[in-house]
Amino acid sequence: MNNNTSKYSATQGIQHEEALLFEHAHEAPESIHLPGVEGAVPEALQAFMRQQPANIPGLSEPEAVRHFVRLSQWNHGIETGFYPLGSCTMKYNPRVNEQVARLPGLAHIHPDQPEDTVQGALELLYEVQQWLGEISGLPYVTLQPAAGAHGELAGLMMIRACLDARGDTKRRTVLVPDSAHGTNPASAALCGMHTVELKSGADGRIDLAELKAHLNNETAALMMTNPNTAGAFESDIKEICQLVHDAGGLVYGDGANLNALVGVARPGDMGLDCLHINVHKTFATPHGGGGPGAGPVAVNDTLKPYLPVPRIVKDGENYYLESTSDTSIGSILSTLGQSGVYVRANAYISAYGRQSLYKIAEDAVLNANYVLHRLKDVYHVPFEGVCKHECLLTDELQNKHGIKTLDIAKRLIDLGFHPMTVYFPLIVHGAMLIEPTETESRETLDSFCDAMLEIAAQCEAGETDLLHDAPLSPIRRRLDETQAARKPVLVWPQ
Ligand SMILES: Cc1ncc(COP(=O)(O)O)c(C=O)c1O
Repeated sequence: MNNNTSKYSATQGIQHEEALLFEHAHEAPESIHLPGVEGAVPEALQAFMRQQPANIPGLSEPEAVRHFVRLSQWNHGIETGFYPLGSCTMKYNPRVNEQVARLPGLAHIHPDQPEDTVQGALELLYEVQQWLGEISGLPYVTLQPAAGAHGELAGLMMIRACLDARGDTKRRTVLVPDSAHGTNPASAALCGMHTVELKSGADGRIDLAELKAHLNNETAALMMTNPNTAGAFESDIKEICQLVHDAGGLVYGDGANLNALVGVARPGDMGLDCLHINVHKTFATPHGGGGPGAGPVAVNDTLKPYLPVPRIVKDGENYYLESTSDTSIGSILSTLGQSGVYVRANAYISAYGRQSLYKIAEDAVLNANYVLHRLKDVYHVPFEGVCKHECLLTDELQNKHGIKTLDIAKRLIDLGFHPMTVYFPLIVHGAMLIEPTETESRETLDSFCDAMLEIAAQCEAGETDLLHDAPLSPIRRRLDETQAARKPVLVWPQ
């Protein structure tokens, strides 16, 4: 494996040259021929006309194409390999979804077009609205939120509006389990609430005694994820919802993990009042690099009056946008929502069909338990029992050899896999959260598990240098992740 080092430096030389070519392209853009303006330019536009030539790098077409193709090859994508990023649900997006999303009647329309010219697109979005209501058991849906976190904010705004309408203006505390995704407390803060953290029980689930101790007349809501971020189903869910309701609060569901339940069980039936759905996870469309996503919110009768407007409504055979409401929290996006993501979600749901939707959850849970079963004897499992759609391991057994979660994750890159989610959830030391999703075959799962077993064996064999130096194969190796996030270098070094 160590000979990867020489391969790395040889190819890096070529890659350096190509990237340099782009960053220091010929000054005069001789290769670029932009069409001139034909006829007179209207006076109103003249002020906007460019006075100086555009600063466009003077590259030939093959040079530019090679540059971008090369950059794409330096990345790991779901199309190039297995991507078991726990909690992020990086499932394969079938190509037919892309074909559908590119149909001119969907791709080339404008949000402000008159309703009667976009009836087909409205019908498609309306259908998604209805399906999400049915799948979640919370019948009223807004498609506006543009991401899961945006859905959290919208849901909490509705909860706040509902409490205010009841005269419950002192209820401003949101209870959030310590296993929650960081966006949960952030959204609560953005909504003007303050959060109280609930310590998880020894099994990684919500501890009922802890919940009871924190419920009071200032509780606005419990914000919970089910299955939670440790991949465990909150089996006390009905009692949890009852306790919160009895205390006068509402239950917000973070539906990022709906992949484990879709078509099998419905959060609305469990007692939740509100749920955002990370459509980009549960129904395809991998969302690396920050987007695009969609975080529609489904609510019950209690919260229905506060839904954002406009909403798509059906009247006979026609679809239109309903914007009038005295109680709505208003509009939270300038358009109806990320319609391209919903087109793909519609295609994904249609491909399974009503009768088979449960197979998404069934296969996702089966795949996660298969991985857990194959790895449980060599990696520490913090919480006993079957998992849902993702399995949680830790580096506890590898620690005695000086190997940490980060080393295991980096070594996986050399072996051809995207690492799992690391150091999350925070309630487990050295966490490795693996989410295979339903779209992977047993062969893929086996080759990933083989790689994990190989890493554990290398650890036992004392090959610590190899593991500490990993990854050896990619163009960039171990980055200072804090600096990379805060001060990204976006051009080739000068
Ligand atoms: C459990 C959980 N909640 C919320 C979010 C936020 O969703 P988004 O990234 O779509 O804003 C995520 C994202 O990964 C998540 O895993």
